[in-house]
Amino acid sequence: AEISTGSVIFNANCASCHIGGANILVEHKTLQKSALSKYLENYDTDPIQTIINQVQKGKSAMPAFKNKLSEQEILEVAAYVFQKSETGW
Ligand code: HEM
Repeated sequence: AEISTGSVIFNANCASCHIGGANILVEHKTLQKSALSKYLENYDTDPIQTIINQVQKGKSAMPAFKNKLSEQEILEVAAYVFQKSETGW
């Protein structure tokens, strides 16, 4: 199967802290649906935009990616995270 752009961006920029949808720094703040829904405000009404916001701005120990990834790349990786969280990492 074709490797999606989102997964390539994720592996290059996110997997160091979020391998397999985990979180090596703040262990409960995973990329599993239950955690995203619990910790990200408005996740349930607008999940992809909520992930985009976090990736653009960063939060606490997570760096901002606004100046590192393009808008299109951030959209691709957010859609990838959403899809993996819905189908199970
Ligand atoms: C939290 C995505 C890169 C460290 C999160 C959350 C998302 C996310 C959606 C919210 C999880 C939750 O609250 O349950 C991403 C994506 C990345 C990325 C898509 C790549 C573009 C990184 C990197 C690091 C990191 C490289 C470590 C250097 C963290 C930390 C949190 C977090 C510490 C918890 C923040 C808090 O205190 O609320 N990440 N992340 N992330 N991420 Fe990332």
